[in-house]
Amino acid sequence: MKHTQQVIDQLLHQADRLSIPDFLQLLTQQFPGAVTFSTSFSFEDQVITHEILSNTLPIKIFTLDTGRMFSETYSVWSSTNAMYQTHIKAYYPNQDTLQDFVAANGPNSFYESIANRKACCFIRKVEPLQRALAGNAIWITGLRAEHSPDRHDLPILEWDETNQVIKYHPILHWSTDDVKTYIQQHRVPYNPLHDRGFVSIGCAPCTRAIQPGEDFRAGRWWWEDADKKECGLHVHAEATTSTVGSKI
Ligand code: ADX
Ligand code: SF4
Repeated sequence: MKHTQQVIDQLLHQADRLSIPDFLQLLTQQFPGAVTFSTSFSFEDQVITHEILSNTLPIKIFTLDTGRMFSETYSVWSSTNAMYQTHIKAYYPNQDTLQDFVAANGPNSFYESIANRKACCFIRKVEPLQRALAGNAIWITGLRAEHSPDRHDLPILEWDETNQVIKYHPILHWSTDDVKTYIQQHRVPYNPLHDRGFVSIGCAPCTRAIQPGEDFRAGRWWWEDADKKECGLHVHAEATTSTVGSKI
C-alpha cells in the first residue's frame, strides 16, 4: 500500500501540471492497456468520452447496462457510438443471479426494502463493475464534488481497495456551468433528460427530476434516507491525499 500511495502521490503531482488529455495520455503510457473509463452517459461522462475519443487515446470505455436505464440513455449511447464511430462496450448482470432474484422478489422489489434495493444494485451494477475492472490499473470516472457531500473531500486520484485499482476523477472540481459550456462548445451528444430537471441520472425506476434548490442527488432513490443513497459503485476510503484539480 505504501508503494501504491507513492505512485498516487507522483501521479497527483503530474496531474496538477498537465491538461486533462495530456495526463490521460501519460496514464496510457505508464499503464498500457490497463486504463478504463466507466460511462453512464451523463453530462459529466460525455465530457470525458469526448476527451478520450477525440484525442484517440487508447482507453477502454464501458457502461454497466442494468437493463433498467431510461430510453433516453440508450439513445445517447447510440448517438455517441455514431458520432465517434465507436462501439461502447456494455457489461451485463449475471443472467442466472438476476433471474433468481427477480423470481424471488419481483421486478420492482427495490421499492420494498433497502436490502432489496442494495441487492438489485449489487447484481445489476457492482458485480458487473468488478468484471469490467478486472485486469486494469486505472479506473476513470465522471464523479463531481458538487454532486454530494461525500464527494466534496475526494482527491482526484485515490486507491480503491475493493477493486484494487487507482481511481481518477478528471472533472471532480468542475462546476455545472463548466460541464454545460464544454458540452455546448464541443457539440457533444447529451442526455435530453438533463434539460428536464434530471441532474444525476441512474436507472429509470430509481431516478426522478429535481426542483431548483434541491440537493443534486435528491432525485436518486428519493424514497430512502439521504445517508443510504449510494449504490456501491463508489466506496471511498478516507481522503489521504491532497485535492488537486486540472482543467482542459
Ligand atoms: S452512482 O454511484 O450514484 O450510481 P453516479 O451516477 O453519481 O454514480 O455516477 C458517477 C460515476 O460512476 C459516473 O461518472 C460513471 O463513471 C460511473 N457510473 C455510474 N453509473 C454507471 C453505469 N451504469 N455504467 C458505467 N459507469 C457508471
Ligand atoms: Fe436496481 Fe434501482 Fe439499483 Fe438500478 S438503481 S440497479 S433498478 S435498485
